[in-house]
Order: sequence, then C-alpha cells, then structure tokens
Amino acid sequence: MRRPLIAGNWKLNKTIKESRQLSMQLIDELSNITDRDIVIAPVFTALSTVSEIIGSSPIQLAAQNCYPTTSGAFTGEVSPLFLQDAGCRFVIIGHSERRQLLHETNAFINQKLIAVIHAELTPILCIGETLQQREEGQMLETLTRQIEEGLAGLTADQMATVVIAYEPIWAIGTGKTASSEQAQEAHAFIRELLQELFNPTVAGQTRILYGGSVKPENIDNLMAQKDIDGALVGGASLKAEDFIRIVKFL
Ligand code: PGA
Repeated sequence: MRRPLIAGNWKLNKTIKESRQLSMQLIDELSNITDRDIVIAPVFTALSTVSEIIGSSPIQLAAQNCYPTTSGAFTGEVSPLFLQDAGCRFVIIGHSERRQLLHETNAFINQKLIAVIHAELTPILCIGETLQQREEGQMLETLTRQIEEGLAGLTADQMATVVIAYEPIWAIGTGKTASSEQAQEAHAFIRELLQELFNPTVAGQTRILYGGSVKPENIDNLMAQKDIDGALVGGASLKAEDFIRIVKFL
C-alpha cells in the first residue's frame, strides 16, 4: 500500500525565528505519528535551522525549488547537493507559481527532477490545469503534457522515487477546493497515464498528492478517495493547529 504523505509548502513566508517556532509546535504534536510521512518546506534561509530542530522527529524537510546543476557559476541558485547538505530529503519541483511567475517550462522542470533523483532526494513534481484549460476541455491534455515532458527519460526504477502533486491552479490559495470527486478523477487519470508510460507496478506505487486549498474541513473527504495518497498544503500549513489536524486526517 502507498504510505500517506502530508507536505506543508510554506512558500515565501516565515522568518527563521517564525520557522523555528512553527517547527517546534509541530514536533510537540506530531512526534509520535509513525503511519504517514510528514514533510515541511520552509524558505531556503530557514532550512538548516529547521533541520536542526526537527532532528530525528518524524518530520522531514523539503526545499521549494532547486537548480539542476550541482555547483559552479550559477549566481543565486541552489542545487540538490546543497539542499541535501542543509538536511532536505524532498524537493518540490514545478510548482504552478514558478511555472507562471518564473516561466518554468516542462523541459526545465524535467532537468531539475533528474538532478534531484541523482542527489538521492525525493522530487515532488507539481502539475495542474488552469481554470481556462479546464473550461475549454484542455485539462487532460495539459496534465498529459506535464507528466510526459516532466518525467521524460526516467526509468521505471527512477520513477519509483517520484511523488506527484496534482494541484489545479484555480484551487490554489483561492479557498475553492476541487471536490473530492474532481480530485479523484484527475488522480485516477494520472495513475492510468503512469501505467502507460511505465508499468502497472510503478503506477500502483506512485504517491499522488492533492493540493489546492486543503483545509482541516476537507482533508478527511479527500483522503477517503482511492487514488489520493496525501496532500500538498499551502496556506493551512502556516498555522500549527490546522496543519496538525490535516496530518491527523481520519
Ligand atoms: P494552498 O496552496 O493550500 O494555499 O491552496 C497549495 C500549494 O500551492 O501548494
């Protein structure tokens, strides 16, 4: 069975001091949880501080982005090697905010994904359609392109380490969650696609998270869906109480 994974994407929020406080609150409440993965993704500058705080607790660290080349003359960039050095186990790749604001392409996201795998970290590949694409009937085509191009060149063994996050863009930070049925439909489609591109074992093992206005009020219904294996949580991950409740989904 697929082990559930709840990840908090803190985006560009929380100073080092605030990150320390929030991580300590999470450890207090979550340190005896063993049946699911718990991941938090602070800003780069808070990573090593948070890494020290979470230590050997069940909470694991993620970065929100990376650059695909290990080291060298790449001013302002951070590679998977340095993220690993800071204590990360996961890296979020291709978040829709980066696709939209920084014009990241599927090809560039694919390079990052491969670099993350080579550094033996777990990539969380984000995909999702805009409202316009959904309304114009382009949703499945968009997801297919993001998956095919984002995962290009991966072997089935490499794919076994990848986590996918389906985040419909119209649901991110808007308070409008996809209904559990809409999310399940997209997740089932993604799993079918993985079966075609790789094999049934990989498709059956890959964890597919849902993201977009996940809250304490909707997490239980989302997690009850057969193909939803976890959540990527933005806004609600900034409040200890909300994130703790989401991690403790029923
Ligand atoms: P949200 O963000 O939970 O605030 O909608 C999710 C995300 O962008 O990963």
